[in-house]
Amino acid sequence: MPTRKKFEVSAEDLHIILAKLEQLHHVRDLNTLLDALLTESRHMAHADAGSIFLAEGEFLKFSYVQNDTLFRNDFLSNKYIYSNQTVSIDLTSLAGYVAKTGESLLIDDAYAIDSQKPYTFNATFDDISQYRTTSMLIVPLTTSKNERLGVLELINRINDQGEAIPFSEYEKNLVALFAFYASVAIERALLLRNVVHKMLKMTQIRDPEETQPHVERVGAYAVEIYQRWAERHKVPHDEIVTFRDVLSTAAMLHDIGKVGIADRILQKNGPLSEEEYEQMKWHVIYGAEFFRNPHSEWDSLAYEITLNHHEKWDGTGYPGIGRNDPLTIDNRAGKKGNSIPLSARIVALADVYDALISKRPYKDPWEEDRVLHHIRGQAGKHFDPEIVEIFFEIYDIIRAIRSKWEK
Ligand SMILES: [Fe+2]
Ligand SMILES: [Fe+2]
Repeated sequence: MPTRKKFEVSAEDLHIILAKLEQLHHVRDLNTLLDALLTESRHMAHADAGSIFLAEGEFLKFSYVQNDTLFRNDFLSNKYIYSNQTVSIDLTSLAGYVAKTGESLLIDDAYAIDSQKPYTFNATFDDISQYRTTSMLIVPLTTSKNERLGVLELINRINDQGEAIPFSEYEKNLVALFAFYASVAIERALLLRNVVHKMLKMTQIRDPEETQPHVERVGAYAVEIYQRWAERHKVPHDEIVTFRDVLSTAAMLHDIGKVGIADRILQKNGPLSEEEYEQMKWHVIYGAEFFRNPHSEWDSLAYEITLNHHEKWDGTGYPGIGRNDPLTIDNRAGKKGNSIPLSARIVALADVYDALISKRPYKDPWEEDRVLHHIRGQAGKHFDPEIVEIFFEIYDIIRAIRSKWEK
């Protein structure tokens, strides 16, 4: 445990750590938090790359990756690509060793590890990516009760000349201290994620369509589409981070209102009759009921998304009501264009894309070309044309997300 050992950290560095922790404690979404934790740790130790593994039972799951050299041109398009690996928690791998023993490791050259050591370096990532790992700094992530959360791994400390040099003992202590205190924020983000997962379980027990991978993908697509939208619209960085943070989990809950729909409709194997379809529409109202009296930005966004994710850009969607209207379906007309909240315009596309391209109990997956053709054709009809444009701009990211949460 990093805090049990005594070591000196300069007052200036301690100050920096405290300021960074203060920022992290505002973040609630797990992915946003891991991203921020990794970015800050890398800055502190001048690392070119890094990743975070989270513990799941006896395995570590590769959960986040950053790499300035590999992703220099377009970081976003790559960050999901390698994020599908798992490592056993045992002494044979570097990350496994750190998770198992709770000890931090400093490796000066990953390709010259003493053969007496129980662990070896796994060069698969380097082989696939043509990246050359040299120095490594690996620290455990634990809860305040010393339970295992995961591992933070930093790669290649870069000097002023751009060369990879070993990390110092001081940097190891600094990052370990930071990671130790940051774990409180990770614990809290995991807690929120657990609550969201439990809410989703309620629908999943009854609704075969809303599988865990489906909602994970919709949440992730939504965040990436928003990111590109916000960059285009010059939204300030802090605002982007906050919105991404709440959007991810709020988007996952888009169909939570299906808990109010009868089994015979939810579990029907085949197209719904007109009367059944009318009843199904009410899931947007039931969902919005959950978040009607917002206590936080997260509640407000979840309200917007649950209520409006079946609105269509051309006004032919439902329920067609505004925030102050009574919660009901207005069958005269849907909301139109920009009067549909951005979050819901994004989720509408993310949800439909995922439904079409995936297998559902009542249908086989559509061919990718057919799905893309359909989406293109619905720009300005079902979907906001700008969101469609962005979707195609970042399609490689969308695909990478799909393979990360493949069923
Ligand atoms: Fe829905
Ligand atoms: Fe859905």
